[in-house]
Amino acid sequence: RYEKLWTAAALLLIVGFIATVTYGALGPGVTMVDDSGGTIDSGSLGETQFGDPGVTQTGENQYEVHVVARQFLFQPGTGSPIRVPANSEVTFYITSADVVHGFEVAGTNVNVMAVPGQVSEVTVRFDEPAQYGIVCHEYCGAAHHTMAGQLVVV
Ligand code: CUA
Repeated sequence: RYEKLWTAAALLLIVGFIATVTYGALGPGVTMVDDSGGTIDSGSLGETQFGDPGVTQTGENQYEVHVVARQFLFQPGTGSPIRVPANSEVTFYITSADVVHGFEVAGTNVNVMAVPGQVSEVTVRFDEPAQYGIVCHEYCGAAHHTMAGQLVVV
């Protein structure tokens, strides 16, 4: 008598898993650089906004930050910290100039892949002044463990 119930419950679980996996694959905004839907050659990053990466104000309390990851640094972030004001909404656009890297701002929900030829997008609010460490969380070569940077909310 309960068999049907269990079967239904099991089916529901399976559907749930599939939905979760699908969301994981498609949900977080990973978009191509150009509108035609093609990939870009990492060598032509200079022709995009990644040619001059950094912080751009796009609204009263809104900012965009373009970051290029490469072995073994974030530009900006590693040499000079990324600086954004407190009480702002910041959208990060992350790509890689060489191999796959990670871009994680420790202590925030910012945790994306930096993939050559693709742009990862993530938005976060910063209410208070603070300092955050940025780490590469994908193995990217011999000096992977040294690949880090800083984000300063002023
Ligand atoms: Cu870049 Cu690990």
